[in-house]
Amino acid sequence: MARASAGGILRRPARRRGGPEQRAVARASSGGPTRRHRDEVFARDPLRSVHMSDTHFSEHFETLAIHAGNTADPLTGAVVPPIYQVSTYKQDGVGGLRGGYEYSRSANPTRTALEENLAALEGGRRGLAFASGLAAEDCLLRTLLAPGDHVVIPNDAYGGTFRLFAKVVSRWGVEWSVADSSDPDALRAAMTPKTKAVWVETPSNPLLGITDIAAAAQIAHDGGARLVVDNTFATPYLQQPLALGADVVVHSLTKYMGGHSDVVGGALITADQELGEELAYHQNAMGAVAGPFDSWLVLRGTKTLAVRMDRHSENAAKVVDMLSRHPKVTKVLYPGLAEHPGHEVAAKQMRAFGGMVSFQVAGGEEAAVAVCDRAKVFTLGESLGGVESLIEHPGRMTHASAAGSALEVPADLVRLSVGIENAEDLVEDLRQALG
Ligand SMILES: Cc1ncc(COP(=O)(O)O)c(C=O)c1O
Repeated sequence: MARASAGGILRRPARRRGGPEQRAVARASSGGPTRRHRDEVFARDPLRSVHMSDTHFSEHFETLAIHAGNTADPLTGAVVPPIYQVSTYKQDGVGGLRGGYEYSRSANPTRTALEENLAALEGGRRGLAFASGLAAEDCLLRTLLAPGDHVVIPNDAYGGTFRLFAKVVSRWGVEWSVADSSDPDALRAAMTPKTKAVWVETPSNPLLGITDIAAAAQIAHDGGARLVVDNTFATPYLQQPLALGADVVVHSLTKYMGGHSDVVGGALITADQELGEELAYHQNAMGAVAGPFDSWLVLRGTKTLAVRMDRHSENAAKVVDMLSRHPKVTKVLYPGLAEHPGHEVAAKQMRAFGGMVSFQVAGGEEAAVAVCDRAKVFTLGESLGGVESLIEHPGRMTHASAAGSALEVPADLVRLSVGIENAEDLVEDLRQALG
């Protein structure tokens, strides 16, 4: 593998976070990093221990978000990692790599900084950054699966993820079946002797379904499979899948992690070092890496993730309150609502309920489309997780590729990504859009 084991000048060993119980679960389930492990790493690479001492002063999310991976530049002291806009590196003689860098597909210091940050925030041992969420998913599937293997996929998921299974991976002999991942019995029943991975999104896109991650991990592991959790909607600030037993976390960094609708990116984070190295091998072999500027933008985004997610969640609760009382709204889908079937599980495994809200309107598809068209503060557009509020019609937009499948979404559904604008403006805008 081209990526050097010694690590680069910006590398940080990943650390776990979460409460004491979460950390205990994490260690028991994945053999997470321990002080002994860190000491072994430092013994092999003294440079890392020097840099580590700059930032290893907290396990708290908000502090890690700002400092993990973000070392002061050793040359100038710049407090933000530079954008290493470079493809290759001068070697000190053949094979004499400086800091482990030889070619930017294999490793780039700005990307390394982001990967260290992501690993720390998810409490994983290895983070990998890709050109998009789907590029990360593709790398994961081609690393984990071979022809004849089977995957359980959820009955609600991002349309592009479904398309990857249904139209791409299946052509290479990988089998898949759909299960309601919010129902542990349904998930268990979907397992076959060939199942190598169970894939869940929680909360799911766009129906905001909730899967009990710890239960799903148990079911996957009982069947000899790995649990993959797409944590794009929740982010590691609200939910820590690895600490609950998941093997791999997937992100579309395009969304809350970047947070400003100005970058497309993806990530994989693993609890297990060996799987992390296998994925890193495939990342380099397949090549869909995050570029330096995109990595830098996401690294800037994750610094404010905690404050943004708090505000997204607060604003979403106010929007949900209004929608729940509105006569033209027939159903509100939000895990923060007591009547949501996944509410108890969400309250157990999430810090807050996030900024994504879906609702169904009286009058069917045309009425739902009209609401989207009338919104003014909410911008009509695909994607989610930026500071600005977005509105869309999943059936005709983000989930058109799931039409006619088990993942087809209701035609009267509207999805909101509630931003961090003034909550009254958001509530008023939706009121006028509903008419
Ligand atoms: C939950 C979820 N996962 C994965 C993806 C794919 O990410 P990207 O668009 O960055 O390829 C998306 C995109 O909308 C998503 O919503």
